[in-house]
This record gives sequence, structure tokens and C-alpha cells, in this order.
Amino acid sequence: MRTDALLSRYGYCSRREVAQWLKRGRVTRAGVPVKSPNEKVEPEEVLVDGEPVEFPRGLYVALNKPLGCTCSHKEEGELVYDLLPPQWLRRNPVVNTVGRLDKETSGLLLLTDDGAFEHAQTSPKRHVPKVYAFTTSAPVPQEAVALFAGGELLLQGERTPCLPAELVLTGECTGRLTLHEGRYHQVRRMLAAVGAPVVTLERTEIGPLKLAELGLEPGEWVEIDPAIFS
Ligand code: URA
Repeated sequence: MRTDALLSRYGYCSRREVAQWLKRGRVTRAGVPVKSPNEKVEPEEVLVDGEPVEFPRGLYVALNKPLGCTCSHKEEGELVYDLLPPQWLRRNPVVNTVGRLDKETSGLLLLTDDGAFEHAQTSPKRHVPKVYAFTTSAPVPQEAVALFAGGELLLQGERTPCLPAELVLTGECTGRLTLHEGRYHQVRRMLAAVGAPVVTLERTEIGPLKLAELGLEPGEWVEIDPAIFS
């Protein structure tokens, strides 16, 4: 790609600033400064300010989302994007969350600048299993296990019942729920439907990715290989 396109694609500077960057020798290939904005380069073969280009083939990360931040580019208050290096937010295409977690849900969240990956992962046809650990303010009735597994639970305002979901109760008011779809506030609404309002909710797994194995503190992220989802 052209050097000016590279600098803006990976969030270094605007096209207008490219000439200044090149004049100062901030982009080098094999130790030699790239001089012209239209010189063709591969992202893997250049250094910018002496460092390799980050995520040259697309950004794919898993974040341990803390409580209290929102999965939105626009809303007021703390956003998940505030946790990321500012340069990522200047990438073009932009970095987005893959689906969303509620403000008061913590845990595993994917982010990417690969729109095709994002759409494939959130497509209703994909059914990537997602596991949520919850606590509730009232006991979850044992019958909820069969009700959720049966694929017949119709949530208020919905036309189609929830897909079969696996509920494992680990205590009166604690458990794990595995979903194969992603509807608005789904875990909270399913548990509320059986008289057990959610108090805390954390996503612990997405397909093959397990939060416990990634060793991420809240707010930390790690690069992932998107191929594990194919
Ligand atoms: N279900 C919910 O209720 N909230 C989430 O954030 C995710 C799934």
C-alpha cells in the first residue's frame, strides 16, 4: 500500500501530516527512510519511529471488560474504548467490539478492526457458545434447567423462543448459563423470567476462549488468533 495510506490506516497520523512524518525520517524500510507518500510499502517491512507496525494484518484482541464501562463509541461516561491505546482508535477501519456486554456485565469481550470477522461472529447463524457466570438475588428454580434446555422460553416482547441454553446451577443463587445466540439483556431476562433477578454477571467464555486461561485482570487485553474461531 502507499506509505500515506499505511500511516493513516494504522492510526499514526492524518494524510495531511504524512509529509512532515516522512521529512523527519520517522518511517524506514531496511534502515532507509521512506521519502515519498506514494511509495508502495508492506506494513511488515517498515518501522515507524523504530517500531514495527502493530497488528499489520488486522487487530484482534480479547479484553477483560470491567464493570461500569459501556460498549459504545458515543455514549456518555466511561467507554470500553477508553481502555485502549489511543492509536488503535485512530485506525481505519475503526476498532469495534464484537457484539456488546451491558455496562454492568464484566468479562470476555472481543474487539477488532476486521468488519468481516465482526459480522461473522455476530451473525445469528453462527451460534458460537458463550458462557456467563451469574449470581441472583433469589434462588433459581431447578425447573429452569429443563425450561432453558427445551428451547421454548418466550421472552417478553419476542416472537421466537430462545434457542436451547445450558444452565448449570452451582448454588441456590449462583450458576453458569451457556447461550448460542445474543439477544438484548438475554441472561438477565431469562433468569428474571424464572423469578431470579441477576445481581452480578460475567462472561467467562466465547467459543474456545476462556477468560480464566487468558489471565487478564479487569481492563487488560491480549492479542488473539482469529483462526481459532474458524
Ligand atoms: N446477557 C445479558 O443480560 N447481559 C449481557 O451483557 C450479556 C448477556
